[in-house]
Amino acid sequence: MPAAERIQAGRVSSTGVDAVSDVMELLTRGELTVRGRIREASNAVLYCSVSYEGRAAACVYKPVAGERPLWDFPDGTLAQREVAAYEVSEALGWGLVPPTVLRDGPHGEGMCQLWIGGGPEPGSGSEGGEELLALVEGAEPGEGWKAIGFADVGEGRTALLVHADDERLRRLSVLDAVINNADRKGGHLLTDDGRLYGIDHGVTFNAEDKLRTLLWGWAGESLTAEAVGVLEALRDGLVRGAPLALRLGKLITGAEVDALRARVEALLSSGKHPVPSGDWPAIPWPPV
Ligand SMILES: Nc1ncnc2c1ncn2[C@@H]1O[C@H](COP(=O)(O)OP(=O)(O)O)[C@@H](O)[C@H]1O
Ligand SMILES: [Mg+2]
Repeated sequence: MPAAERIQAGRVSSTGVDAVSDVMELLTRGELTVRGRIREASNAVLYCSVSYEGRAAACVYKPVAGERPLWDFPDGTLAQREVAAYEVSEALGWGLVPPTVLRDGPHGEGMCQLWIGGGPEPGSGSEGGEELLALVEGAEPGEGWKAIGFADVGEGRTALLVHADDERLRRLSVLDAVINNADRKGGHLLTDDGRLYGIDHGVTFNAEDKLRTLLWGWAGESLTAEAVGVLEALRDGLVRGAPLALRLGKLITGAEVDALRARVEALLSSGKHPVPSGDWPAIPWPPV
């Protein structure tokens, strides 16, 4: 696809609402052509181009038919959860999840999400462009880093796993707490043009607490004033009958929408980033 025709992912939101709605129209209505399959993925993840009225972009298409069934997420589809995560991300206003829609495609219904960064070939993606995770010797994370926990690095040695003390990651940690993300690994953090995106939100919104993430660096710390403000706005957007609540009700179960409301309430009443409960593994393994 000619480079000039591509809508550059990193600029989508920064050029304003019109650009985002253009991308949503392109993803929803455009002609979807499969270009390749991402081999290391656990579900069918297809790299595609989508074009509509002279505009084109790269996107990922995950057909529902290619979803591996998960016993703890029996209701609905993973694709619906990915779209619900985008809806909540947009409601928070931080633009952390690339534009994501549900649509029909060459392999049936699925989710379609704007591709972030270069092509799908190893090394051309946006991972690794910025250092967000590291392993360090000793027990101190060091300036500009936050500790996640100790990791076994083989031969009986351990190292401290750390993530960057980065405002974008801090916002993402709030989004993850809200959507109850059960799988926030390093490979699901993409950066492009100075922006950070989270991807892979198939295992979110469970009614039971399942937050499993690398982003524990702020656990127990006060939420920022900005986070409190956006969470209050989200609480208003989730009242019964509100448009967002109605849209989410079509994507996840009623019990899951109630649990989402309860998580937002709990975050606002504690005023703090959540801490691991100890009842389930708090860190995804492998972490990347
Ligand atoms: N929107 C996207 N932009 C760029 N790369 C993506 C995007 N979605 C997925 N990928 C790439 O495809 C890989 C597999 O996608 P992922 O959502 O993690 O699927 P799975 O749930 O099967 O692991 C990711 O690790 C990433 O490299
Ligand atoms: Mg994945």
